[in-house]
Amino acid sequence: MTDDAHPSAHPADDPADGQFPESVAAGYDGPGGANAPEVVTPAVDLLEELADGGPVLELAVGTGRIAAPLAARGVQVGGIELSRAMAARIAGKPGGQDVGVTIGDMTSTRFDGFGDAVVPGDFSLAYLVFNTISNVTTQDGQVDVFRNAAAHLRPGGLFLIEVGVPDLRRLPPGQDTVPFTVAPGAAGGGYVGFDRYDVVTQLFSSNHVTVTTDGAGRFRSVPFRYAWPAEMDLMARIAGLRLRDRWAGWDRSPFTADSTAHVSVWQKP
Ligand SMILES: C[S@@+](CC[C@H](N)C(=O)[O-])C[C@H]1O[C@@H](n2cnc3c(N)ncnc32)[C@H](O)[C@@H]1O
Repeated sequence: MTDDAHPSAHPADDPADGQFPESVAAGYDGPGGANAPEVVTPAVDLLEELADGGPVLELAVGTGRIAAPLAARGVQVGGIELSRAMAARIAGKPGGQDVGVTIGDMTSTRFDGFGDAVVPGDFSLAYLVFNTISNVTTQDGQVDVFRNAAAHLRPGGLFLIEVGVPDLRRLPPGQDTVPFTVAPGAAGGGYVGFDRYDVVTQLFSSNHVTVTTDGAGRFRSVPFRYAWPAEMDLMARIAGLRLRDRWAGWDRSPFTADSTAHVSVWQKP
């Protein structure tokens, strides 16, 4: 069984691209799912409105799933991204040629993709979507993401995060693992997906086992750190930001005890 937790197992992969090397980037933009218009359009609508005509910065911009359509509407969009393999896909999308990208770690990298035309401190909006704050697996690192976002904002600027609420209510006492998929795989094989939680460290992993009919298999484990909305509010305060809005989704529906995700917006004074 191969192990995608170690991307260098794939010959085309560069270890510097972290969890999103070439072999992952190549399959990232499939049709449907997170790329479906009914997922992308509400996000782009809200981001365009919150940008209020100013330049925006996407932390962990990936393949430009959100940044490219936002730029196609005439919004000036910059991005910071760790993986060159992911970022290489942006320019091939409508609007993507206008997205400026700086390769680096979003905990510390300052954007310089538009030269002197737009610099840190100029942005009206920074955003980090699709649960990607959880890809930073230490509390210090997550605080640094908030600090770095805040450093890019102009006074009054906004920082938006989209992330799931930790799913701990699905964990019965004494159990640390929750399956999320058990399904037939392609060509008669099988696929099992499960999350595993450590409630002491707030680390968790999403695990994917794919087995083909000949019994060969593949295991991919991606590490994350969860944080409650209230912990993120504290991180924002450390970075000099204050909570402005918290919704259950891009449609601005109310955030409640039953919400499985939140779209939160903090503001720089
Ligand atoms: C789930 S993808 C999301 C990409 C894009 N934001 C989207 O919504 O499609 C996560 C992305 O975060 C990037 N990433 C993870 N950790 C990062 C870090 N510390 N700094 C910059 N990018 C990071 C990965 O390389 C990957 O492209």
